[in-house]
Amino acid sequence: MVRRGSIALLVVLATADGTLTGMAILITGISELVTCDETLEGADQSQGLGILHDAAVIVGAEFEDAPTTVQWVGPAAQAPAVDWSFDLGGQAVLPGFVDSHSHLVYAGDRSAEFAARMTGEPYDGGGIATTVAATRGASDAELRTLLTARLDEMRAQGTTTVEIKSGYGLDLEEEVRHLRLAHELTEETTFLGGHVVPPEFRDDRAAYVDLVAGEMLAAAAPYAKWVDVFCEPNSPHAFTGDEARVILTAGRDAGLGLRVHGNQLGHGPGVQLAVELGAASVDHCTFLSDADVDALAGSETVATLLPGVEFSTRSPYPDARGLIDAGVTVALATDCNPGTCNSSSMPLMIALAVREMGMTPGEAVRAATVVAAQSLRREDIGVVRVGARADLAVVSAPSYLHIPYRVGVPIVKTLQV
Ligand code: NIG
Ligand code: FE
Repeated sequence: MVRRGSIALLVVLATADGTLTGMAILITGISELVTCDETLEGADQSQGLGILHDAAVIVGAEFEDAPTTVQWVGPAAQAPAVDWSFDLGGQAVLPGFVDSHSHLVYAGDRSAEFAARMTGEPYDGGGIATTVAATRGASDAELRTLLTARLDEMRAQGTTTVEIKSGYGLDLEEEVRHLRLAHELTEETTFLGGHVVPPEFRDDRAAYVDLVAGEMLAAAAPYAKWVDVFCEPNSPHAFTGDEARVILTAGRDAGLGLRVHGNQLGHGPGVQLAVELGAASVDHCTFLSDADVDALAGSETVATLLPGVEFSTRSPYPDARGLIDAGVTVALATDCNPGTCNSSSMPLMIALAVREMGMTPGEAVRAATVVAAQSLRREDIGVVRVGARADLAVVSAPSYLHIPYRVGVPIVKTLQV
């Protein structure tokens, strides 16, 4: 950070009545600012990206320990004077990515399972039990170290908000422990006791569903914003529509928002159930009927596509183009987990969405930011707008188009000022 071209420091801003309120930094040298703010006047609003060229942003905190927010956005030539500035030297800036679907609380390694899949082995969720055993055996300190490293990896690639699910504990104490650890790092935590039926309940699925929807949910709820279920009758390990309904309804009654893993491995009831129950998001959406698409299009439920899963399980990609053209709201996330996609890279998801699912780069960027925020029912992230959190990503290139164009090259990072 520089003071008008000199050394790095922060400034204390004065309000109109003269009281000192906090610090502000002017960010300049933005060749292209993708705000994702469809209401921003004077911006290029094609694709709803709200793009400004030669732009500037002022970020600051109202008081010490307050979240840093966006205080001003506009053409650099019109930027008000503040004492401190930071020049990006002609790079693109966009909202930090919102990774709305991850399973980061895990120990162990399943790279051999990935290798087997590349030679034709199908995925059916059976490998989850391997991760459950390893994670149950890991201490709090070990899991904290793993979680922190995974979050650092995400931040280094431009992700500024992460949703984290439990689901590798599958008993009351372990599910609560994993959620508690995740809750230390993000407010977007999801109770996924309904991930698979654990081996000890294999002969009494109903008892496990009762446990998840009863005592386990009650103990987990203080650490969770969301409840999720792997609704997948095509897997012997996951849950049927009726079982998922019991868990989701109980979660809703406990005050949690709803998310669903649906229609990943084949056609099934997940999407329709999610829409019927008013879920914020149904994730995967790989195998959809026309009725599923119609239900999504007429709903408030976001379809979150996870193309890293199709890449890593050698499966057909969801029809993002068809969904968008039908009026469905489409988000993108990594699903970062040890089984179906061990990538934390939102830029890769954008590249896959563009190359494999027919999305435009602009649609993919919105899906990874403002629409993913919508799937978390958040308006303060995923957008560069006055009052929103100052969560920004910077692309070491003149345009956001380089994100899918320069696939595999680490050109996006979180902007740290
Ligand atoms: O979203 N499908 C269910 N759960 C994860 C995979 C978990 C695993 O295999 O460990 C998913 O793909
Ligand atoms: Fe998942």
